Amino acid sequence: MRSIAIASGKGGVGKTSFVINLALALVQYHQKVLIFDADLGLANVDVMLGISPKFDIKYVINGELNLKDIIYSTEYNFDLVPASSGIVELTHLNSNQKILLKAQMEEVFKNYDYLLFDSSAGISENVLFFMYLAGERIVLCTPEPTSIADAYALIKVAYKHYKIKEFYLIVNMIKDETEGKRIYQQLLYVIERFLPEIKLSYLGGLPFDECVKTSIKSQVPYLKLCPENNISKKLVQLTFKLFKFNPQEAKGLEAFLERLITS
Ligand SMILES: Nc1ncnc2c1ncn2[C@@H]1O[C@H](COP(=O)(O)OP(=O)(O)O)[C@@H](O)[C@H]1O
Ligand SMILES: [Mg+2]
Repeated sequence: MRSIAIASGKGGVGKTSFVINLALALVQYHQKVLIFDADLGLANVDVMLGISPKFDIKYVINGELNLKDIIYSTEYNFDLVPASSGIVELTHLNSNQKILLKAQMEEVFKNYDYLLFDSSAGISENVLFFMYLAGERIVLCTPEPTSIADAYALIKVAYKHYKIKEFYLIVNMIKDETEGKRIYQQLLYVIERFLPEIKLSYLGGLPFDECVKTSIKSQVPYLKLCPENNISKKLVQLTFKLFKFNPQEAKGLEAFLERLITS
């Protein structure tokens, strides 16, 4: 199992729409995918998919339900752990709760190839927690200077706080490939200068496309709604690149559960 956190610092850069379409692209590669919605914001994964799950992670934290009972199966053949305010409590579990959750996560997560965490905006404790918990991290930014600055700040804090050293970058809403590469080079320059221990790999760029808005409005992933659009093609390419990266040391359910217990 690969566990990947998607984070950005700044909100509204396209994390949730990316996570949903990444999940769908991975399903097309015959992967079993679980999205863990770790965002307390308004534009949640369930809203974007037009679904209303009955239960969420709060029921698990309260001990009312088992993790396996709250998993929602979507029509797109990926599953979802719905978000709730319980996310904050998840970062403050005592050791007994951790042991209990570990057993439930082991049972559920062993059925998946990919576990994708959709994070909140900001650099809060819980965003950093999920970045640490996940074996890999994708940082999303847009060409806006504020978004680039926030991506850098997020990487810096994750490094200082949890000694996280490896990140992938995606530049969203670009006008062409050159723009995406230029922003990657900008970030890389600052990182090499001030945080030389950090490795930032460029996963790719996603173009600005009106279909993303249409897809959110109609609550259908853009990969389904506009499969012929450039953004869908780029997303599939980018997914394939991620699929091939597959670093061994970050992999595995065991390592994930170990991080949960020692967090
Ligand atoms: N590649 C894109 N092209 C055009 N609009 C986009 C793109 N990606 C995201 N958006 C728009 O940005 C807004 C925020 O997207 P969302 O996925 O909710 O971001 P986040 O989860 O980071 O807050 C949405 O209105 C969405 O339509
Ligand atoms: Mg979001």
